[in-house]
This record gives sequence, structure tokens and C-alpha cells, in this order.
Amino acid sequence: MVIVVMSVMYVLITGGDRGIGRATAIRFGRKGYNICFTYYSRVKEAEELAGLLESMGVKAFFTRMDVGSPESVSEGLKFFSSRIPYLNVLVNNAGIISVNRFDDITIDEWNSIIRVNLTGVYLVTKAFLPLLRKAGRASIVNVASLAGQTGNAVASVAYCASKAGVIGFTRRLAVELGPKGIRVNAVAPSFVETDMVREFINTEEKRERVKSLHSLHDIARPEDIANAIYFLANEDSRFITGEVLSVNGGRLTC
Ligand SMILES: NC(=O)c1ccc[n+]([C@@H]2O[C@H](COP(=O)([O-])OP(=O)(O)OC[C@H]3O[C@@H](n4cnc5c(N)ncnc54)[C@H](OP(=O)(O)O)[C@@H]3O)[C@@H](O)[C@H]2O)c1
Repeated sequence: MVIVVMSVMYVLITGGDRGIGRATAIRFGRKGYNICFTYYSRVKEAEELAGLLESMGVKAFFTRMDVGSPESVSEGLKFFSSRIPYLNVLVNNAGIISVNRFDDITIDEWNSIIRVNLTGVYLVTKAFLPLLRKAGRASIVNVASLAGQTGNAVASVAYCASKAGVIGFTRRLAVELGPKGIRVNAVAPSFVETDMVREFINTEEKRERVKSLHSLHDIARPEDIANAIYFLANEDSRFITGEVLSVNGGRLTC
């Protein structure tokens, strides 16, 4: 019998250059993982993060990837699989928001949200599954949202539907991949201090309103979500799969 000892751990984070993805990269880096991450439009942020990780003694690989494009995902797979032998953790984090009301949503807006937030999770998972399988035991964490659980006063129906889709995807894939030693879970944040929701928290008055939605009377930091992602990804949660971990400060209303 051949026993393969894999002491080097690899994580791939989509949309890793800023916000929740960046905090997640740093969290895994502190735990000794080698970090693979993608960016979409902000190469400077990606370079800055790679520099920071390297200054922490962490190996970092990054490339541009549009998660909604099969061609771009396939290029991304080529890039990473020529650099890493297997993948222990995939974090499907990349996402975009829209805030239009139902009457104003066009088919183009609908398609672009579903393309990135839902089709992107499908495409990236499908492409990287063989690398995850090579690790033996592996884990996928999808970044959903409270908006996909309860609806939301800010995000559009397209966003809410995309995140509800991510939750359904998570639950079903967990059933399929469990017997193969791959766990699939999701986190569902409420408001988090990132560019995505900046316009809703950029004055003291707005911040107070958002805080009052949470029983902890605060707004999540990206690190709060990264901690939950890290928990679901590593062996501390070895018997948890198909779950959605709410990280919402005790959300009181939507
Ligand atoms: N912030 C919140 O309140 C909140 C709440 C619940 C859930 N979430 C979810 O958390 C995840 C991260 O959001 P965030 O708040 O950290 O947002 P963010 O700061 O706006 O970051 C979004 C990330 O997604 C990347 N991205 C955008 N379009 C992409 C595409 N087509 N292909 C690949 N990557 C793409 C961006 O890359 P570039 O920087 O290169 O453009 C960036 O890295 C999202 O899935 C979001 O829906 C956020």
C-alpha cells in the first residue's frame, strides 16, 4: 500500500484580491496554507495581496479569472494546475450585487448577476473538482448571503435568487460528494464592511441603521466571514456538510 503524505495545503479563493476574499486569503495564509487566488479587474490589489502574503512567508499564486466565462475558468485551471499538485479547499467567493427594484431589472442585469454569482460557482467547482479529488479529503465553501435565505431590503431579486441558488447547489453537491470525502458548505453573511455595500454604510446615520438590523448592533468585518469560512474548510468541521452557516450578527429583520 502506498501512503501519500500531503503536508502542504492549498486553497483557491475566487475574487481574492479584496473584501471577504482578501481576508480569507490572509486567514488561510496565517494557518500555513499556500494561497491561490483570482481577481477580475483589479490587478494592483492582487499584486499587493500577493506581496503581503509573501512577506508573511506564504506562497501565493494568482491570475485573472472571470468566473462566469467557461474559457476564462479553463485558462485559470491551466494556470493553477501547472503550479499546484492538488487542491485541499475551494472557496467560491467572487460575486457582484445589483440593487434595482423588480420593475427596473432588465434581462441583461438578471443574466449578469446569475452568470457571476451562480453559474460562476458551477463552472469553477466543475473545473477544479479533479484537483480537489487529488487531495483525497477536500472541502468547498461557497459564499452565499442572508439575501438568499430571507430576501433582503437592499439587494435585487436577481441577487437574492442567485444566492438562494448557491444554497441549493451547496446542499445537493454535498450529497453527491460526501461519499467521495469532499464536504460542501456555505456561509451566509448579512452586511459586511466591503466595497460591495459601501454606499449603504458610508455615513454614521446609515451605519447606525444597518447596525440596528443586527442584535449584536454592529457590522461584520471581512475577517468575521473569513473565520467562518476557515472553520468550514478545515478538519474542525469534519462532520459538517451541506450546511449554511449564518454569520449575520443575529439579524433581526431583513
Ligand atoms: N459585503 C457584503 O455585505 C456581503 C454580504 C453577503 C454576501 N456577500 C458575498 O461575499 C462575496 C464577496 O463579496 P465582497 O463583499 O468581498 O465584495 P467585493 O469587495 O465587491 O469583492 C468582490 C470580488 O469579486 C470579484 N469579481 C467580481 N466580478 C467577478 C467575475 N466576473 N469573475 C471573477 N471575480 C469577480 C472582484 O474582483 P475585482 O476586485 O478584481 O474586480 C472582487 O475580488 C460575494 O459573493 C458577495 O455576494 C457579501
